[in-house]
Amino acid sequence: MQTNWWQNAVFYQVYPRSFQDSNGDGIGDIQGIIQRLDYLADLGVNVIWLSPVYQSPNVDNGYDISDYQAINPEYGSMVDMEQLIEAAKIRKIKIVMDLVVNHTSDQHPWFLEARKSKDNPYRDFYIWRDPATDGSVPNDLQSNFKGSAWAFDAVTGQYYLHFYAKEQPDLNWQNPKVREAVYQMMTWWLQKGIGGFRMDVIDLIGKEPDRKIKENGPQLHAYLQEMNARVLSQYDVVTVGETWGATPEIGQMYSNPNRHELSMIFQFEQINLDKQSGMTRWDLKPLIPAELHAVFSKWQLALDGVGWNSLFWSNHDLPRIVSRWGDDSQYREKSAQALAIYLHMLKGTPYIYQGEEIGMTNYPITSYHEIEDIESRRVYQQRQQQGYAISDILNGINAKGRDNARHPMQWNGKNQSGFTDGTPWLPVNPNYLEINVELAKQDERSIYATYQQLIKLRKRNAIIRQGRFENVPTGNQNVISYKRMLGEQSWLVIINLSKNRESYTLPIQHFGPNQKIISNNLLLNKIATSGVLQPYDALVVAIGNEEK
Ligand code: NOJ
Repeated sequence: MQTNWWQNAVFYQVYPRSFQDSNGDGIGDIQGIIQRLDYLADLGVNVIWLSPVYQSPNVDNGYDISDYQAINPEYGSMVDMEQLIEAAKIRKIKIVMDLVVNHTSDQHPWFLEARKSKDNPYRDFYIWRDPATDGSVPNDLQSNFKGSAWAFDAVTGQYYLHFYAKEQPDLNWQNPKVREAVYQMMTWWLQKGIGGFRMDVIDLIGKEPDRKIKENGPQLHAYLQEMNARVLSQYDVVTVGETWGATPEIGQMYSNPNRHELSMIFQFEQINLDKQSGMTRWDLKPLIPAELHAVFSKWQLALDGVGWNSLFWSNHDLPRIVSRWGDDSQYREKSAQALAIYLHMLKGTPYIYQGEEIGMTNYPITSYHEIEDIESRRVYQQRQQQGYAISDILNGINAKGRDNARHPMQWNGKNQSGFTDGTPWLPVNPNYLEINVELAKQDERSIYATYQQLIKLRKRNAIIRQGRFENVPTGNQNVISYKRMLGEQSWLVIINLSKNRESYTLPIQHFGPNQKIISNNLLLNKIATSGVLQPYDALVVAIGNEEK
């Protein structure tokens, strides 16, 4: 398979509101990102995925866009944006923009026009339906933010569709004029020199609401192929689709280069492993590492040679990974390193979410008033009505709520952790005195140092980028292991993803040189056919070709 630049790259997601404030208003901004580009270059990343900085009323923190070709003044101006693209380019970093085109803001001029009358030229940019005969909603489709997906608009007496907040009306992709407008906007951004797009909930654009089809609608792939032919194929860019409902088969459809759709997708199959079966993600259950590994192994094998995987633990919608599947107290550093080593040795393109590289943790809250995120507020209200105990509701939100990942980046031990000179829009986690970039950079055994080393290893070793993947059973559900193989080379990865000592037995009789590549335990250098690992031990060794 031909190699593309983005298959050798490491991505870093910046959530601009919380990355770096440059003007003291408590909100991160584009000039703040520019100030921190050297930090990102030093870490070794090649691409920044920038969460939305477009003009927006911020009902959903920028995922409700009212002008795709303007910058939200809170973040700066278009001149700042052009400066960011240029300053990043000097450091060989590309900027990937968030493309949010399943829906717009209800303040977007298209929607303001559309709602004026049934015969407005923009009416069909959105999805309108008459009320049911009793005046109620057209059908029982639900919004992903809870409640009906239909909102009534009194001006014309019809309902419009919104799969998120009612202030985020869904675009009608069946209308060729919508697609044309989106393609023009994408081209405008590509001509500014951006490196590509992360496509927000792109699996929803083929929706057919009358048949109650939300994701993976019949026209989805046809639309993406059209987008590719009209826009993407004209540039050497990367695209990554956010696709919550993708199976490995669907993942192939998106990312097989012969189909000319996307470079890769974010798949979320592992996301449900720590929820009670048949319940919502707010009903918690502990993760079994072997189940996680089974999901990753399946995707590694399914896309090998016929598609491409993205590799990520977290983003602005998910909790902090060290709090979720590591241990954010006694073993914070070691478990964060174990998770990093596990993910970054897989085949695919790794994504680091801001702060993950220093092991930032969740931020527990004790009351409704501390919730900023629209989704968590809705969940709180709905579960309160359903009779859940407040402590259970808060437990769920503290474990899974989206604010966890949105608290400000922890840069140093100074006031507000160096994020702002003002009052931050969300409080800085009080643990910033122990967890911050400045401290991490002084410590050659820090989580940061592990990430930096993992990125270097990836750059230098084709086996990580291109090698075959093979799952290795360990006889222990808390110990996960896999091999990577390229030509004569063979590397073994083994991780104890628990806070206990765990034993393992591998189906490998003869090891070659057993040379250590990376580990989070100075005393762990070799692997044998069987043995015991300390809590969160992680080791990668070159084992030679044991079949010889
Ligand atoms: C996915 C985004 O990542 C999330 O933050 C947003 O709320 C929804 N899509 C709607 O745009």
